[in-house]
Amino acid sequence: MILEIKTFPDEILRRKAKPVEVFDEKLHKLLDDMAETMYEAPGYGIAAPQVGESLRMVVIDDTAGKVKGRLIEVINPEILEKSGEIMEEEGCLSIPGEYAYVKRFAKVKVRCQDRHGNEKIIDGENKLARILQHEMDHLEGTLFIDKLPSIKRETIKKHLKKRIQAGDYVVTGGKK
Ligand code: NI
Repeated sequence: MILEIKTFPDEILRRKAKPVEVFDEKLHKLLDDMAETMYEAPGYGIAAPQVGESLRMVVIDDTAGKVKGRLIEVINPEILEKSGEIMEEEGCLSIPGEYAYVKRFAKVKVRCQDRHGNEKIIDGENKLARILQHEMDHLEGTLFIDKLPSIKRETIKKHLKKRIQAGDYVVTGGKK
């Protein structure tokens, strides 16, 4: 099932998400729906808060579905190691149509759980490292625009205001 993607400045995107504690059928369905929603968008990743569920989990495919078998489910992640630096252009399904260069670690080692609660380690480099960091930021209520120099961030916000007035950008939920 394709889920509604929440858009900035919807307040759910600003909440710190809660750890996943129950690895049941309901969780598996949500993971499946998140993947379906990500592929349909299409995007390289989606975090549970982006579909209205304030839980610490994300799904990622660094090919956005172009290569089969690349889906990664990441539950309750934490970064164990990080190194290097990359600067690439990023976008976000919750701020559609806006892009900016964001500085990230070039390599991250992430400990997380799979859909059955088993621990796993993901070693991400370059693109995968960047996606992991972007998606994990969502679990803290952080968006890529928060990482930009204030001038660039304000430019994006002004652009969004114009787009909202023009009916070219739809805000879900609303701001508290
Ligand atoms: Ni995003």
